[in-house]
Amino acid sequence: MNLMNSIEIRKNFLDFFKLRGHAILPSASLVPENDPSVLFTTAGMQPLVPYLLGERHPRGVRLANHQKCVRLTDIDEVGDPTHNTFFEMLGNWSLGDYFKKESIKWSFDFLTNNEYGLGIDCRKIYVSVFSGDKDSPLDDESIAVWKDTFAQFGIDARVFGKEDLAPKTKKLLPSYRVFLLGKEDNWWPAGGKHPGPQGPDTEIFYFWGEGEPNLQMERPGFNDEKFWEVWNNVFMEYQKNDGTYEKLAQKNVDTGMGLERACAVVSGEQDIFRTDLFAPIIAIIETESQLSYKSQPEVTRAMRIIADHLRATVMIMGDDSGIRPSNEDRGYILRKLIRRATHYQKTLNITDANQNFFEQVVRTIVDNYVPIYPELGRNYNFILKELRGEEEKFKGTLEKGLKEWKKIAKKGSISGEEAFRLFATYGFPFELTEELAAQKNIQVDRKGFKASFNKHRKISHNGSPARFAGGLVDVSPETVKLHTATHLLQAALRKVLGLDVWQKGSNINPERLRFDFSYPEKLSEEQLNQVESLVNKAIADKLPVQYSEMDSKKALQSGALGFFEDRYDEKVKVYSIGGEDTPFSKEICGGPHVKNIGELGRFKIIKEEAVSAGVRRIKAVLEN
Ligand code: ALA
Repeated sequence: MNLMNSIEIRKNFLDFFKLRGHAILPSASLVPENDPSVLFTTAGMQPLVPYLLGERHPRGVRLANHQKCVRLTDIDEVGDPTHNTFFEMLGNWSLGDYFKKESIKWSFDFLTNNEYGLGIDCRKIYVSVFSGDKDSPLDDESIAVWKDTFAQFGIDARVFGKEDLAPKTKKLLPSYRVFLLGKEDNWWPAGGKHPGPQGPDTEIFYFWGEGEPNLQMERPGFNDEKFWEVWNNVFMEYQKNDGTYEKLAQKNVDTGMGLERACAVVSGEQDIFRTDLFAPIIAIIETESQLSYKSQPEVTRAMRIIADHLRATVMIMGDDSGIRPSNEDRGYILRKLIRRATHYQKTLNITDANQNFFEQVVRTIVDNYVPIYPELGRNYNFILKELRGEEEKFKGTLEKGLKEWKKIAKKGSISGEEAFRLFATYGFPFELTEELAAQKNIQVDRKGFKASFNKHRKISHNGSPARFAGGLVDVSPETVKLHTATHLLQAALRKVLGLDVWQKGSNINPERLRFDFSYPEKLSEEQLNQVESLVNKAIADKLPVQYSEMDSKKALQSGALGFFEDRYDEKVKVYSIGGEDTPFSKEICGGPHVKNIGELGRFKIIKEEAVSAGVRRIKAVLEN
């Protein structure tokens, strides 16, 4: 094994793929731009969806990066040795270029090579492959590549498939290396539940046991403790629309390796919280609680949850997107993470009053990551202030909430209305209600809670807890139209309100667009009418949509609007709507957009409101 820390692993990974012709992309924002279906970037492929579907990427057909991700689907698992809410994904992509053979061989090479790779013993590696179903056949090709790869290392890799699932009749030898699993395991996105680019995948596992595994009892995909999934190679050759799978024109590769897990494997510690990414945070928690990390299972779990949630909190608020704790969308997630951390801190007797606990933790996390993500430095004060503010708000209510919870729980069950009252009146997170209930074996009506939540708070489906699950970018025609309309809206706002108007955020779903921009005061009826008419006139004039590729400096000099400029790499796409010389709108943007804006229909603003000081929000729709 090569003893590398997280910085070296990131670097070696990128160097490895650079040497193999990959352009290195910067990590995109944790907040997906123009993606209605998810609150946070959950995988490295997410910002690349348009290109996986066939758009030309300005940097070429081979790409790699490390990407900041947040996955809320795993939040209940956090507390064990492997799960995180925030994590980093190391990924490489082929956009219609290389396919299964190169992808698998490179992954294996990087994992096992002693000079430039992680130097993992190849006998510790096991893999799974898609077993086939009505949508896509058994992945024979990957099996053949794996057999060949293992054979080069003197391992005769046998395939453990359906016929071997009757363990009594067969002695399972460790020579089984390749395991066949179905759509829930070996397909991305898992189970094929979302629209977008998809395909079968092959997952690579590291076996933690001593000697040989007893495959009767322990197998990849069944024992997450002994077999850690470290890298997933997805072969994206389908697009899923409403329930149907269509072959894409190009065969893509999308891979992802979890940095935290890779670090742990390399360090030989079966616990991501022992890696350099977490150890300094755990050390502070140990000092402040005067408890040792491994003293009791509940202490270990609490420390992991605190460390994970505070790290996620810092990364979310350090992302330049201005997200702060609130009761909606991303702000709600943030609130939930902070309040959960605060709750577990309380179980270990830690508050911020202990030696400025938050300051120590935030400083440590920012110091650890600032060489990789410089935006954290800019946001240090903001993070600390919001974190303290939220703890303060929560402190008072937590105790009252707990008292109330106990009263309600006495009768042995908690209704949806009661859980909602705890949430709305006491700021008591629903997850905490559920968690405490689970510890005492008390039923909570989750469905009822969601119903009350939606009814009382009148939050659209975008803000409801139902959206906390992961998902994929929606590139339905409605969304694409609204994306183009967003460009028109920004241009019109700048024409009516002046050039100090800048995009602060954008979120689109098939029903509406939402656009946040800088402007100090409420827009008048007349201004809104002017904006609407300008957009509708552009649509009526059927202004042409064009794009060209140029380097980002030139694009900005040419007057194209660009946001997060420092995140752009050299080559960018510039979309203009109307006339070469004096276009109506000109923006740096990855697309996709409609070809002819005549098809947009009628643009209508349905709401204008404040988001925060100096930032306004417009919601608008397209009517046919
Ligand atoms: N998109 C794949 C994953 O996240 C690589 O597992």
